[in-house]
Amino acid sequence: MVEEKIPSSVLRHIPVLADFLLEKVCFPPNAILVDATVGYGGHSLLLGARLGPEGMIIGLDVDPQCIETARSRLEGLPCRIILERENFDQLKDVLVQQKIDTVDFILADLGFCSGQIEDPRRGLSFQQPMPLDMRLDDRLEKTAADWIHRTDEKKLADLLYQYGEERASRRIARFIAEQRRHRPIQTTTELASLVCRALRQPDHRPGRKIHPATRTFQALRIAVNDELGCLERLLKAAPDLLRPDGRIAVISFHSLEDRIVKHDFKRNQAAGIYELVTPRPITANADERKANPRSRSARLRIAQRKTDGTSARSARNDRGR
Ligand SMILES: C[S@@+](CC[C@H](N)C(=O)[O-])C[C@H]1O[C@@H](n2cnc3c(N)ncnc32)[C@H](O)[C@@H]1O
Repeated sequence: MVEEKIPSSVLRHIPVLADFLLEKVCFPPNAILVDATVGYGGHSLLLGARLGPEGMIIGLDVDPQCIETARSRLEGLPCRIILERENFDQLKDVLVQQKIDTVDFILADLGFCSGQIEDPRRGLSFQQPMPLDMRLDDRLEKTAADWIHRTDEKKLADLLYQYGEERASRRIARFIAEQRRHRPIQTTTELASLVCRALRQPDHRPGRKIHPATRTFQALRIAVNDELGCLERLLKAAPDLLRPDGRIAVISFHSLEDRIVKHDFKRNQAAGIYELVTPRPITANADERKANPRSRSARLRIAQRKTDGTSARSARNDRGR
């Protein structure tokens, strides 16, 4: 019933790798789950259906619109729902405020929702002219336009190389620096055309798999939102926030994120803190790829906090677990 009020952009966002996630994660009806990137509540809706009135979902998102959408979508669940507009790198503080020491499950489905990329105010897409913003959290000070206009050419090139794995980073940075000397670059389509000119590639080429500006846009989005730093801080906090046997699942959408998750899980495995539930990343099968193109680049890794993990605190939460 609630779904009838939800805009179509929300319903178009299909939670990625949900079947596999549900298969690999089991918890009692009174579990405490953290959805660190609640988005439109797609994963939470599925996970929450397994909880009873004693269970709880704590959902975080930096985007207040996502929080509101998730609130109306999740209101019919039987469990307690706590939704906060908060960066997931602050998860520990959120749990402290709720007087919770440890949780049963942490999910982070990284990146952005379909509706966010279509939202013209966010400037995440070069399919239509949008202001160069790219902030998922509009409390952040610097927009993509600020990064483009205030970063010196060499640093900009390094950023495009490091976060976009863009081999032509120096050439693109040179074109940007040259352009901004004459006139500011104001829209996503202007930037995309500039990148195409730098790469000597046309904007539209039928059958091309990725647009030439994709890597530049990824790099800027990562820088604007400090995506890798936030992920590292969440992963660092996680072992102390999971109860023994609790699990953490991360769905990433590019190799930089996946590499960070892989190394973190392996480091914690070597330290006797985690067991790897997925020794290799799980990817979408052909059916899911067809039904949901976003799932094509998704990689899911799950780790389980060991019962006798040595370095993390052996804390229990106040619910007697
Ligand atoms: C892929 S979507 C999540 C979709 C959700 N799993 C669903 O099924 O509806 C990722 C969400 O994470 C949010 N996000 C990105 N970085 C974040 C961060 N550091 N802290 C909290 N939320 C973040 C985005 O605003 C976006 O809503």
